[in-house]
Amino acid sequence: MTVNILAIESSCDETSASVISDGKVLNNIIATQSVHEKYGGVVPELASRAHQQHLIPVVNEALSQSGISKEQLSAVGFTRGPGLMGALLVGGSFAKSFAFALDLPLIEVNHMEAHVLAHFIEDPMPSFPFICLTVSGGHTQLVLVTDYLEMKVIGETLDDAVGEAFDKTAKLLGLPYPGGPFMDKLAQQGNPKAFDFPISSMKELNFSFSGIKTAVLYFLRERLQEDAEFVEKRKADICASVQYTLIQMLLIKLKKAADQYGIKEIAIAGGVSANKGLRDALSLLSGNLGWNTYIPRLEYCTDNAAMIAMAAHFKYQKGLFCPLDISPLAKMKIGIHE
Ligand code: KG4
Ligand code: ZN
Repeated sequence: MTVNILAIESSCDETSASVISDGKVLNNIIATQSVHEKYGGVVPELASRAHQQHLIPVVNEALSQSGISKEQLSAVGFTRGPGLMGALLVGGSFAKSFAFALDLPLIEVNHMEAHVLAHFIEDPMPSFPFICLTVSGGHTQLVLVTDYLEMKVIGETLDDAVGEAFDKTAKLLGLPYPGGPFMDKLAQQGNPKAFDFPISSMKELNFSFSGIKTAVLYFLRERLQEDAEFVEKRKADICASVQYTLIQMLLIKLKKAADQYGIKEIAIAGGVSANKGLRDALSLLSGNLGWNTYIPRLEYCTDNAAMIAMAAHFKYQKGLFCPLDISPLAKMKIGIHE
């Protein structure tokens, strides 16, 4: 019998639903919340309300586009965490009610594991073991992946996520939120060596991205005293230089992890893996080091329910269902499946 799963993602500011049939993702419907733009960051309460508004239309669209009726579903998957508690509650409560009403098994999914499993939505797929650098607005992790549901964090940020570093720098430059994609665009016209920013190095395979925001703040203050037009005149160079520094920090640790574990199968995931500078730098490094690198398509890099569906599919195959009284988790470790 065909296994059809409806999956829901609501951990942050994207409301998304996807239908997967025997491991093949049929669609990936995403409603992005523009309400946060004017606040320069995600407002949790507004995110919950927007999920509440978008969820049913998004689920209806995913089901009708897939041609699979509610009665033909085999299970419901949803993001349990990590994420914003209110946002997770909206998606989780919907998934539970839906599963209860249709008497379907429920599958909880860890959002960070799902970012890694986005690599199995379509070819080319990495082979095990591989290392995945997951870079998003909330996380920066190096993950050792030995099987679909066997993974462990071998390095992570001790403060800000790299996406936050992009977004906070962009804010200092007066760019809209989220600033990462705007910095990426501007950086393509700038000189990455125009200005030097410090590369912070943490012990072992860990990262730190909070220092760069302060470094950029002081740098801009000093330059703006000399020339009030400095940011306007040199925006592309500033973006390119900050981006270059952030990419170096990521790649130094990625290389260290690959060497330490003797692994040449390298993947990147999460919103920041959409960054052109990172993609190009990684391709170059891979060529030099003989790595096989895997970068998902853009729509599977940023938050989406297709990756939740993929994770739910692997959990379904192992019979990993959860009870209806399960609660969301704002913080959630990866690789633990009882
Ligand atoms: O994975 P994601 O969609 O959501 C989280 O789970 O956080 O990642 C969002 C982050 C934001 O910080 C955004 O600025 C960043 O990914 N981002 C980028 C690019 N596209 C998205 N950062 C740099 N360059 C990009 N092209
Ligand atoms: Zn994410």
